[in-house]
Amino acid sequence: AQIQDLSGKKVRAAKDMAFVFDIDGVLVHGDRLIPEGKRVLEILNGDNELGIKIPHIFLTNGSGKPETARCQQLSKILHSPISTDQFIQSHTPMRALAEYYKTVLVVGGEGYKCREVAEQYGFIDVVVPNDIVAWDETIAPYRVFTDAERATSRPRDFSKINIEAIMVFSDSRDYATDMQIIMDLLRSENGRLRTVAKDPISQRIPIYFSQGDLLCPTEHPIPRMSQGAFRIGLEAMYKALTGEDLERVVYGKPELATYKYADEVIANWMEQIHNDERLPTNIYMIGDNPASDIIGGNMYGWNTCLVRTGVYQGEGNDENNPASFGVFKNVLKAVQTAIRKEL
Ligand code: G3P
Ligand code: MG
Repeated sequence: AQIQDLSGKKVRAAKDMAFVFDIDGVLVHGDRLIPEGKRVLEILNGDNELGIKIPHIFLTNGSGKPETARCQQLSKILHSPISTDQFIQSHTPMRALAEYYKTVLVVGGEGYKCREVAEQYGFIDVVVPNDIVAWDETIAPYRVFTDAERATSRPRDFSKINIEAIMVFSDSRDYATDMQIIMDLLRSENGRLRTVAKDPISQRIPIYFSQGDLLCPTEHPIPRMSQGAFRIGLEAMYKALTGEDLERVVYGKPELATYKYADEVIANWMEQIHNDERLPTNIYMIGDNPASDIIGGNMYGWNTCLVRTGVYQGEGNDENNPASFGVFKNVLKAVQTAIRKEL
């Protein structure tokens, strides 16, 4: 009876915890598996002493492809099924904006993938910078526009259309062209190209960014600039050209809106796994970046674990944003320690 009591208590504890995983630098590096990541998912999917599933979701500032495609790719790399119902990338919460805007400019990412993402979110009329360049190449004087790009774009007369909002979904592949077009739109009368607003504020269309990371680790020895750096460039240009501050909305970690969205996803996932949509008491965020994963998790009251397989390479805990549950060599060590504490 005592053994049964103990195991019942453990089952209850296991049902009252959940993990939130950062992806890059915790489970994978780009397309390369971090080996401990594979084992962690096996454990949480039921290969544990209780034989039950421990809920977990994925919360990444990554971007640039549809959720279905990214989950398929991650399932393959990690050798475990990853559902879109347990997955949030930087632009995922922006699907809610489709209710408010019809014609939008979507910026960033490879080829036309972000157009596809926005269309899947329900945006009715998605314009990308190439559509505008194909209409009027003089808008981007230094751009070399290829025949293939012209053939795949969707030009029309943008002097007769109001673009209602700008959505930066992913990293710009051409800062000069994208910044020029964004700045033209921000300074225009209600998003109509070839106009310049008399009042830069009342006629300005809104701009949204899917995440704010300044830097991103890549194959290059020194991290590369990311969306946050692109945004700061735009803000400085806007201020210099208009004298006004640029109001903008940023999603992604560590922004509050993204953590609130994560709560909804955790609750729905709890319902799928345990038939109980109550939020678990003990949520563990595992991340490699103190300035996004850890600061955001700490502010949101989660237990935070910092791993040494990505951005963070320091000795001991991070000074500015210390992880509340500690620093671990890798994701497996973090998960094993959390499970040992809770069960
Ligand atoms: O900075 C963009 C992205 O690569 C970060 O991904 O999974 O570490 O939030 P993640
Ligand atoms: Mg990371």
